[in-house]
Amino acid sequence: MKILSLLGSPKKNGNTAHALNYLEEQLKQQNHEVKHIHVSSLSIEGCRECYWCKQEGNFLCCNNDDAIPILKEMVDADAILFSAPTFCWGFPAQMKALLDRMFCLLSWKEGDTESKSLLEGKTMALIVTAGGEVENNAELLGIAFNNMVEFMNCKSAGIVYIAPCEGIQSINDSIKQQLDKLSKNF
Ligand SMILES: Cc1cc2nc3c(=O)[nH]c(=O)nc-3n(C[C@H](O)[C@H](O)[C@H](O)COP(=O)(O)O)c2cc1C
Repeated sequence: MKILSLLGSPKKNGNTAHALNYLEEQLKQQNHEVKHIHVSSLSIEGCRECYWCKQEGNFLCCNNDDAIPILKEMVDADAILFSAPTFCWGFPAQMKALLDRMFCLLSWKEGDTESKSLLEGKTMALIVTAGGEVENNAELLGIAFNNMVEFMNCKSAGIVYIAPCEGIQSINDSIKQQLDKLSKNF
């Protein structure tokens, strides 16, 4: 499987990256092809809500920033692995901007009752880290993720929460077991 792995932490070697690297290794060992992108080091603006993407004949987004190659990679991949720390009860701004821009991957023609997703049938998964608890905190990213999976007509391979995360030592054997299990769902 071709898996696009998106690191949504500003830190390339922080808690989220540590968990993600472990999962990516498991996936590679299972002969999946993994492409890793550090989203926060790119320049991605939020959605301008111009609806250019919904006009007939237009593909992706008229804002030609760093989101475009990632959106193309999403269309090309079999699975998308999201990972992020919890920032103010949500996704970090750079990752949130990308999630908003994914709106262009849904198309509909005037009069249609249903939209068509360019990601239809793909697998998605999520790793979340947080300084605090899962409840009413890290789970808020999971709720948004599950809605996105449904909205995009995709399948979820699952979510692993690392919360509370007190550093890379929190990516312990029990979390590694959860990540191993997640890797088998791709
Ligand atoms: C700007 C900012 C906002 C944060 N907001 C939350 C929060 O709302 N809830 C929480 O539990 N932890 C919060 N944290 C802590 C991070 O989620 C936590 O330290 C995470 O594991 C960092 O992952 P990283 O090392 O991959 O960046 C916040 C940290 C920062 C820097």
